[in-house]
Amino acid sequence: MSGWHHRHIIDLATFSRENYAAVLELAHRFRSLPMTGARKLPALQGRLVATLFFEPSTRTRSSFELAAKRLSADVQSFSPSSSALSKGESVLDTARTYVAMGADVLVVRHRSTGVPQQLSEDLEQAGERTVILNGGDGLHSHPSQGLLDLYTLARYFDPAHPLPESLQGKRIVIVGDILHSRVARSNLWALTACGAEVVLCGPPSLLPDAFAAFVDAPPPGQATDPVPNRGRIVIERSLERALPGADAVMTLRLQKERMGQQLLTDLERYYRDFGLNHQRLRLCERSVPVLHPGPVNRGIEMAGELLDDKSICLVEDQVRNGVPIRMALLYLMASAETPDMTPAAMA
Ligand code: CP
Repeated sequence: MSGWHHRHIIDLATFSRENYAAVLELAHRFRSLPMTGARKLPALQGRLVATLFFEPSTRTRSSFELAAKRLSADVQSFSPSSSALSKGESVLDTARTYVAMGADVLVVRHRSTGVPQQLSEDLEQAGERTVILNGGDGLHSHPSQGLLDLYTLARYFDPAHPLPESLQGKRIVIVGDILHSRVARSNLWALTACGAEVVLCGPPSLLPDAFAAFVDAPPPGQATDPVPNRGRIVIERSLERALPGADAVMTLRLQKERMGQQLLTDLERYYRDFGLNHQRLRLCERSVPVLHPGPVNRGIEMAGELLDDKSICLVEDQVRNGVPIRMALLYLMASAETPDMTPAAMA
């Protein structure tokens, strides 16, 4: 894959438009392949993918495991509650244990920002070939979610050619708890890279003004931004101003477990001001899709009837698209390691 230089995938800040295109193209090919019964692709035969989730997950963990199995990898799950963590073993030593068992890829989720990055640096220093794929760390990054959201939107706007350019000039509204959301941060990098204007909407306690400049500085560790002419970020404090002209609306889970202070005292008021329902969406001027990374708090971020309305709500599409996106990431990481691996391996 020309232009693919990512060994570990920690966040999307360093992704170029070509990188997004490579992931979306490959995911689209994987999505169109029949995957029922015993039909698997041999691309990762003999490789071991271990999922080290130190924080709960339904979607990300299961879809990484399914993606790895569909590419014929061996898959090893780690369960914190029944592991030696309770005997005092550290996260780093836990990861090293899976490396010693021959893991080629560690998919890592942790409640603290920086753990996947730290593990990747440790593995590099030790000269290990194992690569780290970030399954979500603290408030920092959830790259595979950002990519599957991008793919879901690209498919909605251009079903035949779901590529980064389908987002050019679109107005995407992201509502809710931006402050505590690694999903929002990954979406900001991805959507602006593809030329979308992102409108952030939420109360000041969950959406500080500083988010307007989130993509303005070069990504950490980079002298320049790999993406020229990113789309801009706009902050609106009310849905009445944010929704008119929207092309899509994404709402986010209120992350009560990450709220150290009493940032939100009144959930009924939150729903009244920022909750989505059919009536509210009429402000958009036309029918627009609604996304949510899940898990959803029904009646808080959105009405249950909206979540269940498949004609508007793309939540199930997001989940479905998570598998081919994660197949694409695993495939690209393996092909970066084995340069002679060609798309023929997908046949
Ligand atoms: N969207 C997401 O990360 O969901 P899980 O916590 O279920 O993996």
